[in-house]
Amino acid sequence: MADTNPSIAPPSPNATSADANDPRCVPIKLTAPIPVGDDCAYPPYTDEEHAVWRTMFERQEGLLPGRAADEFLKGLSLLKLDRDRIPALAEVSRRLHEATGWRVARTPGLLDAHDFFSHLARRVFPCTDYIRSRSELDYTPAPDCFHDIFGHTPMIMHPRFADFYQKIGQAALACREASTEEALTRIYWFTVEFGLIKNSGGLRIFGNGIISSYAETLHSLTEKARKLPFVPETVGATPYDIWHFQDTLFVIDSFEHLGTAFDWWCRDHVRG
Ligand SMILES: [Fe+2]
Repeated sequence: MADTNPSIAPPSPNATSADANDPRCVPIKLTAPIPVGDDCAYPPYTDEEHAVWRTMFERQEGLLPGRAADEFLKGLSLLKLDRDRIPALAEVSRRLHEATGWRVARTPGLLDAHDFFSHLARRVFPCTDYIRSRSELDYTPAPDCFHDIFGHTPMIMHPRFADFYQKIGQAALACREASTEEALTRIYWFTVEFGLIKNSGGLRIFGNGIISSYAETLHSLTEKARKLPFVPETVGATPYDIWHFQDTLFVIDSFEHLGTAFDWWCRDHVRG
């Protein structure tokens, strides 16, 4: 299975390789189960932490209409996330479960790839509950709850995306060859984190790594990012750079298209 957890924070033109030494970037290997759903306790957040959430929520909410996918905006609306206070994971988990059967688990940080994909395979999304500092509004080197809750969970409200996300986890656990693992990691990166979709209104973003980043949201729809049709073989052969804005992005026709294309890729590469 893939040895790199691709569920990372948005890249930044200001990031440096020194970020790789940030403790938040060191994957955690679990030694015990993590709390799921109603077992996720609500942390004692400070007023400043809630204020950071509110600042980021308002900024992205104003930017996303006309840029984010219809499916993302619908999921965000259905989740009814609180703008003023960091949402409780238990509450987010309940809404996800009602919509698509997914639940949220509270992760202490970036998970070891096997642990991360094992949760996805069971329709459980490992989610952080801590938030970046105000000095990191534009960039943080590892996931925080703005990236995880605001960026990731709205798409998991969409039934076809939710199924695809589980299959990513199942495929990662079934991988036996390093080249397949690498291709799968790239498919994850260029869909879950940095995917684009053709909506009826035009090109839109569904990748969470873009949607949770103000600068990447603006960059991704410009001509500075080359757009290619989503073909799993091509995506799997395309390296990505975690430290800078993406110069190549892939566009799906629909989540039906994504699911079908990924199923075929799995039949050829994972289950053969
Ligand atoms: Fe992520």
